[in-house]
Amino acid sequence: MAISRETVEQILQTARIEEVVGEFVTLKKRGANLIGVCPFHNEKTPSFNVNPARNIFKCFGCGKAGDSAKFLMEHEHFTYPEALRYLAKKYNIKIEEKEQTAEEIMLQSVREKMFNINEFADKFFVDTLWNTEEGKTIGLEYFRERGYFDPIIQKFHLGYSPAKWDAFTEHAKKNGYSEELLEQVGFSIRGQKGLYDRYHGRVMFPIHSLTGRVIGFGGRILVNDPEKKSPKYQNSPESEIYDKKQTLYGIYFAKNAIAKQDECILVEGYFDVLRMHQIGIENVVASSGTSLTMEQIRLVKRYTKNITMLYDGDAAGVHAALRGTDMILSEGMNVRVVVLPPEHDPDTFGKEFSVEYVSNYLKDNAKDFIRFKTELLLKDAQNDPIKRGQVIRDIVETISVIPDSIFRITYVKECSRLLDMPEQTLTNELNKILRAKLKKTLGIEENVVTETDTSTTTPKQEETVEDQLPAGYYQERELVKLLLMYGREMITDERFDEDGQSVYEQVSVAQFIIDDLKNDECLFLDPVNKKIFDLFDHALDEGRIPDDQFFVSHEDEAISQLAADLLSSPYKLDQWEKYGIYVKREENMLRTTVLSSLYRYKDLMIEDRRKAIEEELKTTEDSDDQLILLKRKKDLDDIRKQINKELGIVIAK
Ligand code: UTP
Ligand code: MN
Repeated sequence: MAISRETVEQILQTARIEEVVGEFVTLKKRGANLIGVCPFHNEKTPSFNVNPARNIFKCFGCGKAGDSAKFLMEHEHFTYPEALRYLAKKYNIKIEEKEQTAEEIMLQSVREKMFNINEFADKFFVDTLWNTEEGKTIGLEYFRERGYFDPIIQKFHLGYSPAKWDAFTEHAKKNGYSEELLEQVGFSIRGQKGLYDRYHGRVMFPIHSLTGRVIGFGGRILVNDPEKKSPKYQNSPESEIYDKKQTLYGIYFAKNAIAKQDECILVEGYFDVLRMHQIGIENVVASSGTSLTMEQIRLVKRYTKNITMLYDGDAAGVHAALRGTDMILSEGMNVRVVVLPPEHDPDTFGKEFSVEYVSNYLKDNAKDFIRFKTELLLKDAQNDPIKRGQVIRDIVETISVIPDSIFRITYVKECSRLLDMPEQTLTNELNKILRAKLKKTLGIEENVVTETDTSTTTPKQEETVEDQLPAGYYQERELVKLLLMYGREMITDERFDEDGQSVYEQVSVAQFIIDDLKNDECLFLDPVNKKIFDLFDHALDEGRIPDDQFFVSHEDEAISQLAADLLSSPYKLDQWEKYGIYVKREENMLRTTVLSSLYRYKDLMIEDRRKAIEEELKTTEDSDDQLILLKRKKDLDDIRKQINKELGIVIAK
């Protein structure tokens, strides 16, 4: 159920960051702020900072930052709505639920009925396994035969569905469940002679939601059918309560171990999960044979950023490991791969060896995904130069999805060694892909691209973090910071009218910066900076100026993280002394800072465009085209002069 927008705002404004954090972390006063030992990474000297004035936290050790809701999401693994509900309760705020429509009420009751029959079925299958002759001799015997002990069979609610073709259907009907519901949830299938059981004569695995409710079932056939007339596993069809792409088998039993060990082991099958649990490795979930989805990855990400894929040693297993990994990397998570000996899957491996052996095997054989992929592809390519070229592009493509530039650089170094290729070659290839992506997300048209593209400048000798960032990145950040911190402050805008007379006008810093950048068509290149720019732009159009809280609490995580980051480091308006700029009057400081930041940013952009134009001039033969380019160059120089002049005037005062 959704919480209304007004209530969300009320909650976030009422919540005091120091009180929320204070429940989990011991805080000490340090100046205007509070400081403590960071709960998100291991440290001895406290670098976890709480800023009551801005109502945010930031750890200067690990970089985590945000508002009260963010803290709870990180610390308690709450979803956003869960965090809001927690805060509402803490501060006695009544949650105004949006009124439900008739349709929503209907859906709600359908879902309840489905949960209800699943629970009923779960009891029946478990009861049949343990308490009937057929269940004991066939079902329970099957599990024991495969080496499973009673506690694990009980813990996972494993069951047995009788061989009689309509045993469960009849039992459910007798207890008042409708045929329609039985078909909807998938227990019964309509045949020529009426309804029959989907799972008759199978051992049963209930599938649990994150909170432990039964949302579906998988049923395994008891004898392997060589003609494959019926599939090895029958699974629940999708329904209002069972969405396969959002489900991981075992998550309910694994989530605590995953958070505690800060790692999630991913396997393929039901039995693989059971086996690992039985030998005491509990941070394990299964994708149930299908390739991984974004939703499943996000589910894991609530608990850890580290995924280890543990796959069968056969070729199919190895290739299954390749699928879905780009998705994990693009979520900023770390992926490692463990390949088992060819004859094993995790179930048989855990059965044959001791827990010590298995743990050590996992530790010794976990390969970083990029390395795994590189080695695998190289083996396929051998010495074929064309194939090697493809491998390189393929790997660099994979590296390019990693959001963190520092990790990307680390991988480039590693791959340069593995592929025996100069680092610079890989970096160039990587930058090409990154630039293409950036342009695509920004929707830059071809003719604009030539003006801002930095690829025309001579390549640098050594790769640094900055090289992978768009030109002017830090200057952009500085402007974003000014927008966030001082956006609502007023400064005097001084212009000259047609007669050369000074005209003074009070405008907000936000209005000033946004208008100025738009006038000179300087648009931010970094996607997050650009989003913040656009949010200001839209708000200003509507006559509003968003405050820092709006960005810190923004639903887009990239925005809220950046806002919290920027707001956590103090801005020293007096740093200009350092640049030898002497500012006489205090109230001029803000204006000077704004103007200088704009100047430095635009100067860089303009320099870039000038260079591009000069390059273009060298290759342009047509005199008309040359004229156009020269005119553009002159326009740029004029803008530059204008900025210089303005800045000079301010400073001279
Ligand atoms: P496997 O064929 O590897 O089965 O499929 P398994 O888990 O090792 O089972 P055993 O050891 O042969 O008994 C892996 C997973 O793929 C899904 C199941 O979730 C299974 O656990 N699967 C497989 C199906 O859904 N239907 C099938 O017919 C086969
Ligand atoms: Mn198996």
